[in-house]
Amino acid sequence: MAELTQAQLLELVNTKKIAPGNPRVRQLTERIVTDLFKTIDELDVTPDEFWAATAWLTRLGAAGQTGLITAGLGFDRLLDIRADEADQKAGREGGTPRAIEGPLFVAGAPTSKVEVRVDEGEPKGEVFVMEGQVLDLDGQPVPHAMVDVWHANEKGGYSHFFPGMQPYELRRRIETDAKGFYRFRSFLPPGYAIPPTGPVAELFAALGRHGQRPAHIHFLVAAPGMRTLTTQVNIPGDSYIDDDFAFATRDGLIVALERNVAPKGYESLGITAPFTRSVFNFVLPRAASEDEALPLTRMERVATPG
Ligand SMILES: [Fe+2]
Repeated sequence: MAELTQAQLLELVNTKKIAPGNPRVRQLTERIVTDLFKTIDELDVTPDEFWAATAWLTRLGAAGQTGLITAGLGFDRLLDIRADEADQKAGREGGTPRAIEGPLFVAGAPTSKVEVRVDEGEPKGEVFVMEGQVLDLDGQPVPHAMVDVWHANEKGGYSHFFPGMQPYELRRRIETDAKGFYRFRSFLPPGYAIPPTGPVAELFAALGRHGQRPAHIHFLVAAPGMRTLTTQVNIPGDSYIDDDFAFATRDGLIVALERNVAPKGYESLGITAPFTRSVFNFVLPRAASEDEALPLTRMERVATPG
């Protein structure tokens, strides 16, 4: 191989091929490699800095923290902003705002009809009921929608990721009734932080950033013919509500809490004393394609062949 300048090397990297390959992958790779060559040159990146970065990426993957850093560097919210912009252009505004899924969804949670207790045993915090309807943009009920709910435990951990928790702890699916009603009992979860050690914590320390998330509850809401909604609601009063490390807080998703609600009518959820309630309707637009109605999370979507 002949001697090469930086520009000649970049040209070679971006044009070499023995088969057409995937044009989209070629296009994106070309852009990213070009930008990185430029970054290395313009910012005079040293070999030690470069290899430290590759070692960090290796640790990031091994620690299973890629989904954490995408949120922390704003990519998850960026995709939501772009989806909102696309909706706006297409005249498709309306409905419950989308919000980032985060990396901690687990498929296959136990399913109940209409109502369920998401937590088990003794309450681990303020007893909380969230209830409402799944509606379309005209305010009509969406019958038999599936509401997937998951949230952190009292220590800020999620089952399947946090040691000592039971499978599907604080993860449930609720099938709404014919009028779109759902309700569940749990407790108000606290906010939480990124793991204190590991590659994401290292980068955040170097960036001088905190890794705190305000208290929230995640949802995936799906129904035939409706656009699948991934969202989360925030619990008001959290000091990080406007300073989320994942930039996920949105207007319209901070629930109102009613305290000291009388227990009458909530006995089937095991409630016998005044409790805290939030009424929240999920409003879904009609799906514009079959793809939009697929009840899949982000990783299920990309894992689906075809
Ligand atoms: Fe979360």
